Amino acid sequence: MQDPFGHRISYLRVSITDRCNERCTYCMPQELQEWLPRAEILTYEETLRLVRIAAELGVTKIRVTGGEPLTRRGIVDFVCEIPKIPGIRSFGLSTNGTLLGREIKPGVRMAEALREAGVQSVNVSLDTLDQHVYSQITGRDFHAQVLDGIDAAIGAGFEQIKLNAVLMRGRNEDQLIPLTEFAAARNLILRFIEMMPVSTTEVLDEKNFISILAAKRVIESHYGNLVPEPSFQTNGPATYYQIPNREQRIGFIGAMTNLHFCESCNKLRLTCDGKLRPCLGSYLEFDIMKPLRAGATDDELRQFFLDVVDRKPQQHDFRSNYQPNRKMIAIGG
Ligand SMILES: C[S@@+](CC[C@H](N)C(=O)[O-])C[C@H]1O[C@@H](n2cnc3c(N)ncnc32)[C@H](O)[C@@H]1O
Ligand code: SF4
Repeated sequence: MQDPFGHRISYLRVSITDRCNERCTYCMPQELQEWLPRAEILTYEETLRLVRIAAELGVTKIRVTGGEPLTRRGIVDFVCEIPKIPGIRSFGLSTNGTLLGREIKPGVRMAEALREAGVQSVNVSLDTLDQHVYSQITGRDFHAQVLDGIDAAIGAGFEQIKLNAVLMRGRNEDQLIPLTEFAAARNLILRFIEMMPVSTTEVLDEKNFISILAAKRVIESHYGNLVPEPSFQTNGPATYYQIPNREQRIGFIGAMTNLHFCESCNKLRLTCDGKLRPCLGSYLEFDIMKPLRAGATDDELRQFFLDVVDRKPQQHDFRSNYQPNRKMIAIGG
C-alpha cells in the first residue's frame, strides 16, 4: 500500500479497547469518560480478519494498544493469533505497565504469557519515578505495579522493551536524568514524547509543553553531546541518539516541533470501534466495521484499506487547526 505522497504503509496500530484503568491527564478528557458498549467494539475475530487483510496488503508490523489493552478479557488468546498471520514480522504491544506483573494463572505473570504468545516487544509508559507525581499524572496509585511490571517484562525476555515518557512542564522536567539512569540500569530504550493536543483537557496547554529540543538540551548538559543514530530504526517516528561513552540509546518523538515528522510515516490506525484512521493528527476516519458487519468480502475490505490509504494526508494538522474530535484514549496513540 502506498499513499499519494509516496508513504509505504507497513505498520498498523490496532486499538482493542477504549477502556483504561488509569486516567492520564493528557489522554483522558476531564469530563467523565463513557466507555463504548461491547457491541460497538470489534470482536477479536473481526480484528484478526482486518489484520490479515492488512497483512495481505503489505503490513508487516502490528502494535496492539488501547486504552489499556491488558484490561480487555482474553487478550492473551488474542495476541497468540497475530504472529500466525502470514506476513507479520514485527509484533509489539503498548501498555501502561500496571498489569504486566499480574499473575494470570499460577506461576505465570502477564508479561510471560504475552511473550509466550509471540509478542516481541513492549512499550511501557512511565513519565516519572516519583510516586506522588505519578499519581497526579495518571489519577491512580499504580506506580509500584508499573515498576514491578517492568521487572516482569525484563524477566519475560522480550526482544525489546521501550519506556515512553510524555514531557510535561511542572510535572516531569526534573525527571529526564533520573529516567535516563533508570533505563540505563535496565538496558531499556527510553523515549521522550512531546505532548500532542489530542484531548480536550487544559493540561494540553502551551505553558505545559516541553519540546524535544529542550529535553535534548537538558540531557546534553548532563551527559555531553548526543550522537545521532540515523541508522537505528524501529519502524516508528522516533529519532534516536547514543549517549556518549555508554551503550545507551534514547529517542525523541517530536510530533509538534519536528517539521520532518510525517515524511517517513508508514502507519495506519484501527480503532477499537472499527474506524480506520490514516493519520493520528487528522480528524479523518473511515468506518470499516459497517461493511465488515454487513458481510463485505475480503476483496471489498481490501479495497476499503486502499481507499483509506489514498486519503492519507501529507502531514498532520496538529500545528494548524486540529480539532480533537476523538480523544487519545479512543485512538490508541
Ligand atoms: C494512548 S496510550 C495507550 C497504551 C497504554 N495505555 C499506555 O499508556 O501506554 C499510548 C501512548 O500515547 C501516549 N499519549 C497519550 N496522550 C498523549 C498526548 N496528549 N500527547 C502525547 N502522547 C500521549 C501515552 O503516553 C502512551 O505512551
Ligand atoms: S495514556 Fe494509556 S494509561 Fe494513560 S489514560 Fe491513556 S490509555 Fe490510559
